[in-house]
Amino acid sequence: MRSSSPDTLVIGGGIIGASIAWKLALAGLRVSLVDAGSVGGEASWAGAGMLAPGGEIVSREPWLDLALESMRLYPAFVAELQAATGVVIDYRVSGGIDVALDDEEWRALGARAERQRALGIASTVLDRQSLLDQAPLCRDRDYAGAVLYPDDTLVDPRDVMRALTIACRSAGVEIREGWRATSLHVSRGSVLVESPADSLHAPFAVLAAGAWSTGIAISGTTLPALPIAFPVKGLLISYPLEPGVLRPILRRGHTYLLQRATGIMIAGTTSEEVGFNRTVDEHSIDDVTARVGELLPWIRRHQPTAAWIGFRPAADSPGPVIHRAADTGLWLAYGHYRNGILLAPVTAKLVTEGILATRAPAAAHSFSS
Ligand code: GLY
Repeated sequence: MRSSSPDTLVIGGGIIGASIAWKLALAGLRVSLVDAGSVGGEASWAGAGMLAPGGEIVSREPWLDLALESMRLYPAFVAELQAATGVVIDYRVSGGIDVALDDEEWRALGARAERQRALGIASTVLDRQSLLDQAPLCRDRDYAGAVLYPDDTLVDPRDVMRALTIACRSAGVEIREGWRATSLHVSRGSVLVESPADSLHAPFAVLAAGAWSTGIAISGTTLPALPIAFPVKGLLISYPLEPGVLRPILRRGHTYLLQRATGIMIAGTTSEEVGFNRTVDEHSIDDVTARVGELLPWIRRHQPTAAWIGFRPAADSPGPVIHRAADTGLWLAYGHYRNGILLAPVTAKLVTEGILATRAPAAAHSFSS
């Protein structure tokens, strides 16, 4: 642990904040990472871990290039984390299959896949035999059609967070858990971050507190209005099954099923704007259970044994909020919504490169003075 004052304060220890902290520390900066709860304890713990532009991105929107770039960065990101920590990360290019249950869904899915192909998101139409070759459990139902996204990938975000925590510590990041940032004061050359009991300051701060990001009061240098962050609650359920029964992700719209290497089958999800309401309600469990039963009738032979919720970090912006706040030392890295796990490597790259680039003149000056 370092006790001297940091070069950068990262506010929020989810996958976005922890990835940024790790990369900044590897670049030689002194970094403190603060989190109101525990590192990786919120959305990054809850997430399914689908790296799947095919399931999320349907047009040339601000997410597209970031998602494709982060897909490219992921293999090296995982390999570097594993090598640095010895943590085995459940990471697999599983492919993702979207199915249509009737002709209308099939027309919509076919048209979507065609639009996505033009955007650089690869897919192929599967005939019934090819679908069964990829996912034998689909035998109990006649689907109107299926599309395979061969590049879709699965990662267990809890493995990633375990590795990131170790990697951050080994790279010298000071981690403060239970440290709730309540206000942030931006002045020339410095950002002061306060919690109810303490304060920290640094030339740079990164606001990466997910759905909580703009609940923190920001004052000081006049900044443009920041996009408002807010939570979109999602509920997932799981089934303890034998490993290896389902290789690809199976999807129908935002209903999905996927299996971890441990055998745990995860099904999702709901989407509710109900603030930070943590209730895991029976109605939502029944809803997800029924929808995945429609998607894959085979799963009805099993009972879910766990259910949990997470708060997707949404923001009222057309894409994730990843940029410097005016010409201050404050960087914004929030609003990743349904794609936080996917966008961690590219966000860490952009923010790290940005901070290093803006820091360079000051560093050069201090050498020459
Ligand atoms: N990315 C999947 C979800 O938000 O449920």
